[in-house]
Amino acid sequence: MERKITTSMSALKWNRPNLEIIDQLLLPHEQVWLPIKNAEEAHKAIKTMQVRGAPAIGVVAGLGLATDLLHKKDAFQNEKDLLEYIAENTAYLRSARPTAVNLFEAMDRMDKHVETEHLRLKESKEASGNTLETIIETIVREAETLLENDVLDNRAIGKYGAEYLVARHGESRFSVLTHCNTGSLATAGYGTALGIIRALWEKTTQMDHVYCTETRPYNQGSRLTAYELHEENIDFSLVCDSAVSWLIKTSNQPAKTINNSLDKFDRSPVKAIIVGADRVTANGDTANKVGTYQLAIVAKNFGVDFIVAVPSTTIDLSLDNGSSIPIEYRSGTEVTNVSGVVLESADQQQRKGNGIIERSTVRVSPFGDFEAYNPSFDVTPCELITAIVTEKGVITKDASTGQFDVKGFLEKH
Ligand code: MRU
Repeated sequence: MERKITTSMSALKWNRPNLEIIDQLLLPHEQVWLPIKNAEEAHKAIKTMQVRGAPAIGVVAGLGLATDLLHKKDAFQNEKDLLEYIAENTAYLRSARPTAVNLFEAMDRMDKHVETEHLRLKESKEASGNTLETIIETIVREAETLLENDVLDNRAIGKYGAEYLVARHGESRFSVLTHCNTGSLATAGYGTALGIIRALWEKTTQMDHVYCTETRPYNQGSRLTAYELHEENIDFSLVCDSAVSWLIKTSNQPAKTINNSLDKFDRSPVKAIIVGADRVTANGDTANKVGTYQLAIVAKNFGVDFIVAVPSTTIDLSLDNGSSIPIEYRSGTEVTNVSGVVLESADQQQRKGNGIIERSTVRVSPFGDFEAYNPSFDVTPCELITAIVTEKGVITKDASTGQFDVKGFLEKH
């Protein structure tokens, strides 16, 4: 049986020279497309999380620079002037958010072109031979390649991940759980962890249910993943972050052995937790949305698979382990408050006349002067990870050492 995936949801639209992103702060209630005309607007959209998710951040930074250069192409005096402008803006874009390595990887690619052109300029005393137009075209093509490759990579991740899980669980039916949002909205399309879930849904019959966590404090799970799963007609339930241990325990137990059989939610047992990542280091340690670490501990406790899905652009071989990954801490107001839409009847909405749903922020903690601790990411140690699925295949642990050889795998594939 083929269960068809229908959506054409997307975080961004690129129509040379124009870039637009969907404002993810307004999803799932409003679909508002924002034009991004320059590097400054790309920086702001990434920083304020109008666009988020590691691969999408890298692609928007690249295309943000590309659209900027295409719009300003007549403003540069000479090659040196243009190269300085590109370098200034890659440095600026790097400062938008610290944890997702895809942003730095995208900017490294641009800076490499700048370096090559500088060398060329130095060697030939007069002109570099490359016109301003050629340099801009090289940068724009690099950004477009990021966009094209990301979708292809995600489809490959989906295929490898689905094959791996089906091989491990045979014919039996199972559910999976995912955290944060790793789908079309977090990437250039299809998704990483959500790409595996899409492929499992579309190409197999074994996975028949998905649980997605709310992912407090920013609610990427309830606002974005639930939205994507709902649009795709994938059978899913939304769960509180704090319900996961109980869910996995009870879903793997026969109903009659549970305190109260009504507690058992009548679905296939959860056999895998599948997440994306913002950075994977050489030993396999993984930074991802805060809460991922505790999910990995729960998976280990109940003996279920813990799968990390990433394009190889998310792997940072310059770091031996996760202890030096920079972790972003965000404003405490994301914890003290929640934002959403005011629930009103359709009639009340209609009487307001404009059809726009009002968003508001609600204080869910006392007013007063106290701290809210809000790390946006945490690091899951490689010991807790079963496998890392990439577009090149699945990285598993060496049977004799019990370790991932991420570098060796990438060199071989
Ligand atoms: O703060 P966010 O929403 O940018 O965090 C996103 C995540 O942690 C995702 O899981 C990760 O970037 C992988 S997206 C394919």
